[in-house]
Amino acid sequence: MSKMRLLLAAGIALTLGQSAVAQEEITDTAADYEEGGRWYTQHGIPTFKVEEDGTVDFATFSGFRRYNAECFQCHGPDGAGGSYAPALQESVMRLDYYEFQDIVVNGKQEVNAAQNLVMPALGQNPNVMCYLDDIYTYLRARGTDTVGRGRPAKKQDKPEAFSEAEDACMGS
Ligand code: HEC
Repeated sequence: MSKMRLLLAAGIALTLGQSAVAQEEITDTAADYEEGGRWYTQHGIPTFKVEEDGTVDFATFSGFRRYNAECFQCHGPDGAGGSYAPALQESVMRLDYYEFQDIVVNGKQEVNAAQNLVMPALGQNPNVMCYLDDIYTYLRARGTDTVGRGRPAKKQDKPEAFSEAEDACMGS
């Protein structure tokens, strides 16, 4: 099964109901282990790793680029929020990882007398879905103020395992 399908299946499983994720899992961003060219917390949630000299892990840098390509026009620069859509650097510190994925896959619509805001369902867009963990870790790095605004100055070289996972997801 492709990664894209797995993500879609995860989205469906979510809609069918899942117990709330412990608060500690949401606030924990500490990198614990590396797998497939990216870092995870001890809870198995994708996370960032930034060296003391400011070098960011490749996935986080990729997330910065993908965020700017796919989310920026509504959510504003650097995850900081726009006039149309909320600051995702804050959303990712409040929502859990699965809620975040669910909203991106299935979309969200706030309709009331004052506004009619639509978060599009992006679950069919490989340029979003194949890089969603990257976008997530970038936003978490922003939300904890580990990475500043703008393009990260230094990044890790692209790990081979990262390229392989990317190619498998994009089907190239
Ligand atoms: C066409 C504009 C648009 C684009 C593009 C877009 N969003 Fe949104 N998004 C919105 C709007 C509007 C909302 C608020 C919807 C609501 O509150 O019902 C939203 C809400 C969200 C939320 C929920 C935030 C919260 O605090 O509840 C998440 C998560 C999210 N978007 C992620 C993303 C990601 C990740 C991308 C890029 C891959 C993206 N969005 C691209 C318009 C957009």
